[in-house]
Amino acid sequence: MEKKQEKKVLAIETSCDETAVALVSYANGMYTPLGQELYSQIDIHKEYGGVFPMLAKREHGKNLLFLTEKLLGGSGTPISISEEHIQKALTFLDREVELQNFFKECIHNSESFLHKKPDVDMIAVTAGPGLEPALWVGISFAKALSTLWNIEVLPINHMEGHIVSVLADSADASFPALALLISGGHTELVYTEQWGSYHILGGTKDDAVGEAYDKVARILSLTYPGGPEISKKAEYVRSVHTVDEAESLCATHNIKLPRPMLHSNDTSFSFSGLKTAVLYLVRDLKKNLNTEILPEDIVNLICFEFEESVVEVLIKKLETAKEQKAEIKSLIVGGGVIANTYIRKHLSDWCVKEEIIFLKPTQTLSTDNAVMIGIAALVQMIHSYAKPIQPENIVARGGWKVDELY
Ligand code: KG4
Ligand code: ZN
Repeated sequence: MEKKQEKKVLAIETSCDETAVALVSYANGMYTPLGQELYSQIDIHKEYGGVFPMLAKREHGKNLLFLTEKLLGGSGTPISISEEHIQKALTFLDREVELQNFFKECIHNSESFLHKKPDVDMIAVTAGPGLEPALWVGISFAKALSTLWNIEVLPINHMEGHIVSVLADSADASFPALALLISGGHTELVYTEQWGSYHILGGTKDDAVGEAYDKVARILSLTYPGGPEISKKAEYVRSVHTVDEAESLCATHNIKLPRPMLHSNDTSFSFSGLKTAVLYLVRDLKKNLNTEILPEDIVNLICFEFEESVVEVLIKKLETAKEQKAEIKSLIVGGGVIANTYIRKHLSDWCVKEEIIFLKPTQTLSTDNAVMIGIAALVQMIHSYAKPIQPENIVARGGWKVDELY
């Protein structure tokens, strides 16, 4: 039963390579981002061609306090904090030395934002899934703030965040819903009976879709993250050729990629073979063309064919899920790969054909952010399944599945 109320949360997200904080409110049936600060570490990780966990942790530690200060500004009610609470908060930051130093400096300045209690009902923090060293930074910080301000902490599953991210832009979903989560770390189909009632129908046996985009980009000497790079090139091919023309050009150059598990008749995915097929294709093309660097038009066609394969597999798996769960009324999509306009268009067309509602996040809420973590906390509070945890008991759970309780 939905409670008629107003709520506000401070949300923290550090599961991967985005350091993000947000203030989000719920009132009159609407979830509204009141403010957010996000620092993307993409440029730092580009050099390594992927996310380097200890580097991500260090960057979160450097930026989290300052982003929160910027978000909260001078707002909040001045409070007096006992030395005992200050010491306890600092102890929670023992494993985050750099953040602890910034925190120490800030707390010893009585004018700093840490001495003003923000007007929020809860602190929400991503506790998993993700890179554990990175998750710990947000968790430790949430514990420290909770101690200073005497505000409860709610550990949030990042994938639930991706699911509920659609609520920033839509009214409530129609249930039961099917959620398709496609990100750098996950590819999952989640039967969603109601908010908080999730059941994973299928996932990837190896690489996630976003991971395949990133790895294929590396094979093609494109920069990290690969999704936007590959999709730009595929889009270019579609802008100058019809799909038929592009397919026949691919055939001319022997550019044909597999559609992994297309006929497996289940809801499992596998993208590692697709990546390996690109690796061999690139090797053969280089050999046949007697070159170390593939011509741009060939690279563009590989990107086009790769995206065709991804789309075909995603749609087929949705069809299989729909056969298993004919009662679904809406498709919820989330995760960084859903920023891809071609994939969005195909999923939207599929929903029209199936006569179900299509719910997608805005482009900016598709990739990692703290607003979705705030919305997840509010959904849990409004729908009465929020379970705040004693700060001492919150730990990072790198492999936390969306259908498991914390
Ligand atoms: O959800 P997200 O921001 O982080 C994780 O939780 O993993 O997703 C990041 C993934 C990366 O693999 C990135 O290449 C992919 O999303 N991505 C895209 C696009 N934009 C980001 N993939 C395909 N097309 C895009 N336009
Ligand atoms: Zn994500």
